[in-house]
Amino acid sequence: MNRLTTKGKIVFGILSIFIIALITITLIFIFTPKDKDPKELNSKYKEEVIEIMKGKNLYNKINEKEYSKTIEIMLEQNEFKEKYLEDYYKIEYINDNSFPKNTNNLLDKNYTPAEINYINNNLKEDINILLNMKHIDILKFKDITNFDIKKLERYLDYSKENTKYDMKTVVTYVNIGLDLEGYSEYKSYTKSEAENDLTIIVNKYHKLPEDFEPSDLVNLENTNYKLREEAASAFKKLTEAGIKDNVIFYPFSAYRSYNTQNGLYTNYKNRDGEKEADTYSARPGFSEHQLGLAVDVRSSNLTSNLTTEDYKWMLDNSYKYGFIIRYPKGKQHITQFIEEPWHIRYLGVELATKVHDSGLTYDEYYDLYIEKR
Ligand code: DAL
Ligand code: ZN
Repeated sequence: MNRLTTKGKIVFGILSIFIIALITITLIFIFTPKDKDPKELNSKYKEEVIEIMKGKNLYNKINEKEYSKTIEIMLEQNEFKEKYLEDYYKIEYINDNSFPKNTNNLLDKNYTPAEINYINNNLKEDINILLNMKHIDILKFKDITNFDIKKLERYLDYSKENTKYDMKTVVTYVNIGLDLEGYSEYKSYTKSEAENDLTIIVNKYHKLPEDFEPSDLVNLENTNYKLREEAASAFKKLTEAGIKDNVIFYPFSAYRSYNTQNGLYTNYKNRDGEKEADTYSARPGFSEHQLGLAVDVRSSNLTSNLTTEDYKWMLDNSYKYGFIIRYPKGKQHITQFIEEPWHIRYLGVELATKVHDSGLTYDEYYDLYIEKR
């Protein structure tokens, strides 16, 4: 450096600055994004869809945002409506031929993208039910596990008539059938269902075959009352547990055939009238006594009921031996029968414990946790 003249130093300095500037400019040029061919930028849309966008003068607007399969399909299938552009972005595409038409139909009915996504993911099979009615607040059913879209209109009607119930209650009550007159519509069990499933619900909406009689009825100890074998041996344990706690009770009715129930119900009806009889006696085919899994128990000093103390013991202990109180107090609007402290139903220890712990009637529990959908 010392060898350079002052002039030389200046020239060297200028040259260096020049070279550095050149390198910087080159680097800036290399790393600055260049305007690409628009097609390259949005290569995810199909060629023909890009043409359709351009034809609608929407190319730039659509391509400012990320690729949307929904938008592509709407355009491709000639279902695209510009007013729904922002909604389409939020609607997840599902692989279904009716997706474009259904999407527009739902948007026309003022469904939001969130609602449409929920419908597509959960109710696709029955979407026509929604397409044939005006907008409903479908997300209020989102967390209701026993919601059945086929009963949607019934839920809405029942909810309107019973504003005191929340939607969860409405769904369970309608599923049970409580919006219908008892015995007006019911499921008929087959003999094999009645024989093989110890958990089935029998109520005003579930009927047993006239000729159903359980195959394994046995006498309860020292009586002529019969229950199915498993229930009979559980009843023996229940009775023994009671004795240990000084709670003595006896059966006063157990298995009843269709004909026996028919005779009983007819007598009550003739005595008290149909409306009254229906509050305490099941019509033939609709009594769980016919299952051979229900037994009526009485305290030793009463003819057909439990004392308050014995009933309390039964409430707190029967589930441990597989029995539940089937018609509890204050639940007539659900069970459709007045309180029957004496009537217990065998379900097996596991299920009876769950029903007991749930605090629900068996009608509700069955709909929520057992009914297949
Ligand atoms: N008492 C009950 C409801 C029956 O008849 O089965
Ligand atoms: Zn009974």
